[in-house]
Amino acid sequence: MSSAIAPADTPTADKTPVDKAVGALPARVVLDRLWRRGRAFLGTELAIMGGAMTWVSERNLVAAISNGGGFGVLASGSMKPEILAAEIEGTKALTSKPFGVNLITMHPQLSDLIRVCAEQEVGHVVLAGGLPPASAIQQIKDSGAKVVCFAPALVLAKKLVRMGVDALVIEGMEAGGHIGPVATSVLTQEILPHITEVPIFIAGGIGRGEAILACLEMGAAGVQLGTRFVCATESIAHERFKQAFIRASARDAVPSVQLDSRFPVIPVRALANEGSRRFLEVQRDVIERFNRGEIAQKDAQLEIEHFWAGALRRAVIEGDVEHGSVMAGQSVGMVTREQSTAEILTELVDQALGAMVARGQARRAAQWSEAGS
Ligand SMILES: Cc1cc2nc3c(=O)[nH]c(=O)nc-3n(C[C@H](O)[C@H](O)[C@H](O)COP(=O)(O)O)c2cc1C
Repeated sequence: MSSAIAPADTPTADKTPVDKAVGALPARVVLDRLWRRGRAFLGTELAIMGGAMTWVSERNLVAAISNGGGFGVLASGSMKPEILAAEIEGTKALTSKPFGVNLITMHPQLSDLIRVCAEQEVGHVVLAGGLPPASAIQQIKDSGAKVVCFAPALVLAKKLVRMGVDALVIEGMEAGGHIGPVATSVLTQEILPHITEVPIFIAGGIGRGEAILACLEMGAAGVQLGTRFVCATESIAHERFKQAFIRASARDAVPSVQLDSRFPVIPVRALANEGSRRFLEVQRDVIERFNRGEIAQKDAQLEIEHFWAGALRRAVIEGDVEHGSVMAGQSVGMVTREQSTAEILTELVDQALGAMVARGQARRAAQWSEAGS
């Protein structure tokens, strides 16, 4: 990366974004100042987290993201402690850079998984899947690791800060996988201005560097992307899973549909397929049987919940993208080909730099036209 300092009026049109200046400083210097807090927290060159994706975020993708300057996060899903230990060791063999581990709070062996992270000296643990118990946060902090949690609303963000978390992720409903009801753009405005105690990373619907820059300019410390990394060359996702991403547009990534409020469905954003259509039929059938008194409410709920059991693995690993769960965010439309992780990260940074330069030029043009009028 160039560090040449160009004066504000230096012609910059023929340069790459990396070499361009914003005012008196190279754009990269300004970007590094904007995400300084995130980089310091993660210990990385770029404040870009690769959001943990069950079955996708294993050692290869996680190490590739960290080696590319970002922050890879291992997805532990429903792993047993010994499997997680082996995955952490495998990741360490592929990278010497920092990476984190994502744990699901409802896991029955959460405490054992935290112990594995402590033994393996994992620096950052991301707790997902609902408000974590205070004991889990304390256990992680006692191990010396930093705790990152998801804040789905301002009141919960404040609560988590009081509970001692070290950073927050704000994830909007544009994201792939399990989602809340509120958009990234709204959550960002609701939470960012009011939480200064800890760094905040924005997730959900981020597919390009321009959006990363916008988050940083609003006060975020960094960002978290998932969907954009699925088709990385290093990702072990099945070729058919990757092709489904490459073919899809934003409108194909839709939340799961709940037919009856008596039978709640956990909202998950995934590509519409035969599985999601069949899911509606199954719900309809179960509800009719319940209405006719042929099945108890608890059994009906279980039948609905069991429909997707093992479905993500079926899609990611086995490549059954018609009947499996092809979890994807709306940014899937910006995934157009398989690329190396390093290339994806460079592209994101270049887009952020390009946007920064363009905005600087627009501001200067506005100032000049003001002065001339
Ligand atoms: C296939 C897939 C699986 C995911 N699995 C998990 C998971 O196991 N744990 C988790 O915290 N988030 C999970 N996520 C969410 C990502 O970590 C990340 O926050 C999200 O993808 C960011 O939004 P984006 O998809 O718009 O980039 C998953 C997302 C996808 C697309």
